[in-house]
Amino acid sequence: MMLHIPNVLTAEQVAHCREVFDRATWEDGRTTAGHQSAQVKKNLQLPENSPRARELGDLVLAGLERSALFISAVLPQRVFPPLFNRYDASMSFGSHVDNAIRPITGTAMRLRTDISATLFLSDPESYDGGELVVEDTYGSHSVKLPAGDLIIYPASSLHHVTPVTRGARLASFFWVQSMVRDVTQRALLFDLDMALMQLNKEVPKSPSLVMLTGVYHNLLRQWAEP
Ligand code: NI
Repeated sequence: MMLHIPNVLTAEQVAHCREVFDRATWEDGRTTAGHQSAQVKKNLQLPENSPRARELGDLVLAGLERSALFISAVLPQRVFPPLFNRYDASMSFGSHVDNAIRPITGTAMRLRTDISATLFLSDPESYDGGELVVEDTYGSHSVKLPAGDLIIYPASSLHHVTPVTRGARLASFFWVQSMVRDVTQRALLFDLDMALMQLNKEVPKSPSLVMLTGVYHNLLRQWAEP
């Protein structure tokens, strides 16, 4: 399931990220790439554990916690500390699948990457190219979102970033391990939760709503590994 989650960061928070980026030292993006993806990855990143990356990462995590849509779609068990990248003119990232398991640097923890996420931090008018293209059974999906908006997609998908031909594309990216590993089960829970939210507006006093809410929680009880 691919999902666009708007306004994870406000315009002020995006502007703050951009100020920090202007003062930051960037390193080769291959630092965090696996063997295959390192061969096709041409971009820059903020050093993973730099104070600047961690400050902005916390800003992103706080934005995710405020997003009911993100929580409902992802059912997060563990979120990788957000990383930040930059594609200048002629930079790109060829087709790859993200590594399945990621050690969380500085901790003994590992994360299974169920969901990949990209939070766009540049105004789409300020650069050409730099689309995130995700392949699934329904074809290729090309994504370029307003600054502050997030796209989530299955980490199992082949994806690439097309070459930037003008300007710079700045983004945050990270992975999530979900409490519900199976993508079909997760999608069913999301659909049910969306329908429940709608029914709460339409027929808030209906006893059926209580029963359906119970079904949601009992399915979650069956499928979640908290
Ligand atoms: Ni990737």
